[in-house]
Amino acid sequence: MEKRKISIIGSTGSIGTQALEVIDKLRDKFEIIALAGGHNVELLNRQAEKFKPKYTCLGEEGLERICSDKDNDIILVACSGKIGLKPTLTAIKNGIDIALANKETLVMAGDIVMAEAKKYGVNIVPVDSEHCAIHQCIKNVNQVDKLIITASGGPFLHKSVEEMKNSTVEEALAHPRWNMGKKITVDSATLMNKGLEVIEAHHLFGFDYDDIEVVVHPQSIVHSAIEYKDGSVIAQLGLPSMHIPIQYAITYPERYEGIKSKSFSFAEIARLDFEKPDFEKFPTVKLAYEMGKTGGTATVCMNAANEEAVFAFLNGKIKLYNIYEITKKMCDEHKVIQNPSIDEIFETDKEIRIKSQEVISNVRF
Ligand SMILES: NC(=O)c1ccc[n+]([C@@H]2O[C@H](COP(=O)([O-])OP(=O)(O)OC[C@H]3O[C@@H](n4cnc5c(N)ncnc54)[C@H](OP(=O)(O)O)[C@@H]3O)[C@@H](O)[C@H]2O)c1
Repeated sequence: MEKRKISIIGSTGSIGTQALEVIDKLRDKFEIIALAGGHNVELLNRQAEKFKPKYTCLGEEGLERICSDKDNDIILVACSGKIGLKPTLTAIKNGIDIALANKETLVMAGDIVMAEAKKYGVNIVPVDSEHCAIHQCIKNVNQVDKLIITASGGPFLHKSVEEMKNSTVEEALAHPRWNMGKKITVDSATLMNKGLEVIEAHHLFGFDYDDIEVVVHPQSIVHSAIEYKDGSVIAQLGLPSMHIPIQYAITYPERYEGIKSKSFSFAEIARLDFEKPDFEKFPTVKLAYEMGKTGGTATVCMNAANEEAVFAFLNGKIKLYNIYEITKKMCDEHKVIQNPSIDEIFETDKEIRIKSQEVISNVRF
């Protein structure tokens, strides 16, 4: 392949730094146009020294410039939370392909983003390991009956509800399988991450919510699967490393050895376990299905309330279980706008964040 010109939004984060490790192994395949971070100036400078991008940027302002730069063949959107949406839309309008890690983009505006991608002929290749797995499995969408998304279950899978309710920030951040940014790690502890992924899958692959199933698989070896109409199931397996889906997304449709460190061995893995998710213990997943089915600004509301509540938990203002309670309250009270414009999406997001903060400031525990 010709050198692919790439920019990374969120290069200083968990996905961003792993993407640069992938690119380091494939130096002859990539030219870096821009790297963007949020606050970590020191790391961004070190990355710039090593990878010599055309330019770097810090904070949200520069993202529009990067995403309007038609020199890019592909942009890896690896910032966390709502920040991802605007730059993704700008890149799409400029005909630039997207490797999408930022799931909040599709949760907030999946209908608009997917329609714009179609209009401008832009590829959106998922980075999330589950969606990357489905992307690899699906050959003929019309012949597929359902998507099966696996979930590791997070740190509280086999802990009691009481233990989960009273957990500390450190316990919630101690994910048994994946080392990720704080927001997604807390989402994995409440299982909201799986709810967000169900919505992401609905938009990426065009499946009804009733045809998307979640199954708990603690070993995180089967990254997801699809069931064809004839009952045949195709799953994608691999060691639990984000390097693999990141490399897949930024080199697609090519494949290279690149970052591969070890060959896969069924004998070494020995067993794979699966169980039904407990929606009573983890009601976030149920809420996400409900909001997904409601559509319109329902998922914008859920995403904004959840994000604010997660930050409040990380800052010691609320307990882990309050995240669900606050998010549910905001969803119950929200007057949904169907087929919202992008402005209505941003207005809803802003309004819900303000309301959530008011509720958070009144939480007593
Ligand atoms: N980590 C994973 O394994 C994983 C797996 C699947 C999906 N994802 C998704 O990928 C996204 C990123 O996750 P992550 O774990 O990599 O998060 P993270 O470690 O928290 O990284 C977030 C990145 O966004 C940057 N950022 C924050 N504010 C910014 C701003 N205003 N302008 C530009 N950049 C800004 C951060 O910069 P600073 O650090 O410099 O502030 C950092 O580079 C999330 O949507 C997550 O759900 C992650």
